[in-house]
Amino acid sequence: PLANFSVGPEPPRFRPAYLQANTSGLKLPEGFLYGVSTSATQVEGAVKEGGRGPSSWDWICHNVPSTCSGETPDVAVNEYYQYKQDIQRVKAMGVNTFSFSIAWPRILPFGSKGSPVSEEGLKFYDDFIDELLKNGIEPVATLFHWDTPINLMSQGGFLNRSIVEDFNNYASIVFQRYGKKVKTWITFNEPLVYCAIYATFPFDATQKGGVNVTLSPFICAPNLIEAHATAVQTYRGLVSRGKIAKGKIAIKHDGQKPLPFDPDSESDSKVADRVADFYLGLFSQPIHVDGNYPQIIEDTFPPSILRRFTDEEKEIIKGSADFYAIDAYAVTVAKTAPGGLEACISDVNNAYWPVCQDTNPVTQHSRVNGWPIGAAADPANTGLIDTTQHMREFLKWLSEKYPSPGGIYITEFGFTEPFEVLLPELYQITWDERRANYLLDYLNEALLAINEDKIDLRGMFIWTPFDNFEWRSATQLKYGLQHTNFSAPGLDRTYKISFFQVRDFFREHLP
Ligand code: NOJ
Repeated sequence: PLANFSVGPEPPRFRPAYLQANTSGLKLPEGFLYGVSTSATQVEGAVKEGGRGPSSWDWICHNVPSTCSGETPDVAVNEYYQYKQDIQRVKAMGVNTFSFSIAWPRILPFGSKGSPVSEEGLKFYDDFIDELLKNGIEPVATLFHWDTPINLMSQGGFLNRSIVEDFNNYASIVFQRYGKKVKTWITFNEPLVYCAIYATFPFDATQKGGVNVTLSPFICAPNLIEAHATAVQTYRGLVSRGKIAKGKIAIKHDGQKPLPFDPDSESDSKVADRVADFYLGLFSQPIHVDGNYPQIIEDTFPPSILRRFTDEEKEIIKGSADFYAIDAYAVTVAKTAPGGLEACISDVNNAYWPVCQDTNPVTQHSRVNGWPIGAAADPANTGLIDTTQHMREFLKWLSEKYPSPGGIYITEFGFTEPFEVLLPELYQITWDERRANYLLDYLNEALLAINEDKIDLRGMFIWTPFDNFEWRSATQLKYGLQHTNFSAPGLDRTYKISFFQVRDFFREHLP
């Protein structure tokens, strides 16, 4: 059946009325990577297959079920077994790229350097990568998407500097195995979210391990930066010795340059800059600029809290990314507040960080799942805050602040849509008009950024090809371009409107 795969009957198409710019005739650049993105824990399942060891997420979802909305990643969307069909389904969208993560505990069940390597685990990704290549889809592999081997977590995870060596050992095994086939690598997924929220996870939730949750981001960050840079050094060494193919490697940032609440207020603008330095600069400046943390961070956190790098370490860290990779979702808003700083970022609640307290009636009004989503996706919005337009500004700002010779890649963007509805009478297609609108508007802005602002944007990966295991929200929060029927034994995937709209956008604009 795979040989004759087709998407089947297609739904009626609409062109959203709100689209602000006419982009017809505009093209994406040659070589543009158009892809979708997933991560191991969120899709694979088969957690005990092939000798895989347990990860931090297996542990917490089993031991403190409420953390994962009462679900586990044991099956997720079963991609371990269903990847061949899934690849055909995204191929039908015309993608030329698939971004996925490798599960560290699948390769090294105990995680640490010197511990056994699972040949079965290695073989799984060999087959997966080969299947992508056979279908003309370029693999983009991430080494770490938050699934720490539980054995390493018990030793402190990224709060223990010895993990730098363990990570380098894992990275080196993976580079040598797949480095002839995979030409685009990512070391870490969203280091800020990881260090701010998951560095102590799962032991913070169970009070085990005596972890200091307040300080953990600042212990994690230097260790993670060092682990990243060391792995990049290993990668470049293997390339220069001719052991693997020449490719490119980077880290997948998260973070924001918030909008000033009042664009005419100098102090709001300053707060926005400050927040950007805290959140984005913490990882971006050392890696992409000069090996140092931003001045504001050095002024705020003494070396006893945030370890400083030696000159030798700085040399390894500086320039340890061949391109700038950013996961860019919704815009945040920054504002001066009596008594200090007010900025909005979800999930981070830490005495040392700028606090999130959103009192802005505009953004509150247009929030979906806690995010200010902008005019595109919310027709009732007053239009004051538009995430997708801000994205274009953000790209301009990024290319000036952290210029990268290898260009920018938006390694994740996407939308969780609470109002989508599956229509059995319309070929089982899910009507997700808001997501479709949001994605099209976002893509349009990117097209303008490339064509009008001359931004060197070289790829965009949509999160995510099908509804999957959304961490603590498990199957409750849906980001997919395809619907996954979690009650069906086959976890059947069916198309959503956004799937077709995105496909058509790229049909029109790829060179
Ligand atoms: C970013 C994370 O990398 C990914 O794992 C998550 O599912 C999406 N954001 C959506 O929340």
